[in-house]
Amino acid sequence: MKAYKNVFIFDHPLIKHKIAILRDKNTGMKEFRELIEEITTIMTYESMRDVKLVPVQVETPLETTTQYKVPEESIAIVPILRAGLGMVNGVHKVFPTAKVGHIGMYRDEETLQPQEYYCKLPDGIENKTVFLVDPMLATGGSACDALDALKKRGCKNIKFMAVIAAPQGIEAVAKAHPDVPVYVSTLDRCLNENGYILPGLGDAGDRLFGTK
Ligand code: PRP
Ligand code: URA
Repeated sequence: MKAYKNVFIFDHPLIKHKIAILRDKNTGMKEFRELIEEITTIMTYESMRDVKLVPVQVETPLETTTQYKVPEESIAIVPILRAGLGMVNGVHKVFPTAKVGHIGMYRDEETLQPQEYYCKLPDGIENKTVFLVDPMLATGGSACDALDALKKRGCKNIKFMAVIAAPQGIEAVAKAHPDVPVYVSTLDRCLNENGYILPGLGDAGDRLFGTK
């Protein structure tokens, strides 16, 4: 796959360790959910390296000092339903007061085309840094449509985070939305004929919510 300057693939031993457990078909729902959350938290730290801090005055027991904080009200989280819900707590661990919007997408199982069925976003989202989250980036159709939906509603500063991606998905998002930084914890090999990522982890929504 070609290298894109706005695509960041993590190569952290701790993430590799957690991904190995996540992929295992014998990993149960509770552990799966916890791992998605933990990986998301690590990714959130990494994806905030360029965040703009604001100066604040802090009184230590000894003196007043100028320190720097992230303006928490400037962060929003938007999971792509359903599986993106599994990543919300992972970002909330870092920004507990971030507002949450929801975009509902499902892939038509035959055409693999995403269908939007729900969108509810916090007021003022156009002025926030938006974390669009979805554990799986397969063909990239859902992510591209969700990014279109956010941009249509005025969002200018969006970061997309996925736990596992196929090369096709990364290419699709990087080409359609070159302004959006894409953070992926693990790059997988390819898609199978049903649009599933290989080696992948199966259906993330079903494993998170126990629907199969
Ligand atoms: C999965 C996943 C992504 C999408 C990725 O959702 O969570 O949203 O597929 O595939 P794409 O890159 O080819 O669009 P799914 O449609 O299975 O819905 P669900 O989250 O409700 O299970
Ligand atoms: N959605 C999933 O949940 N898993 C895949 O492998 C591809 C899309």
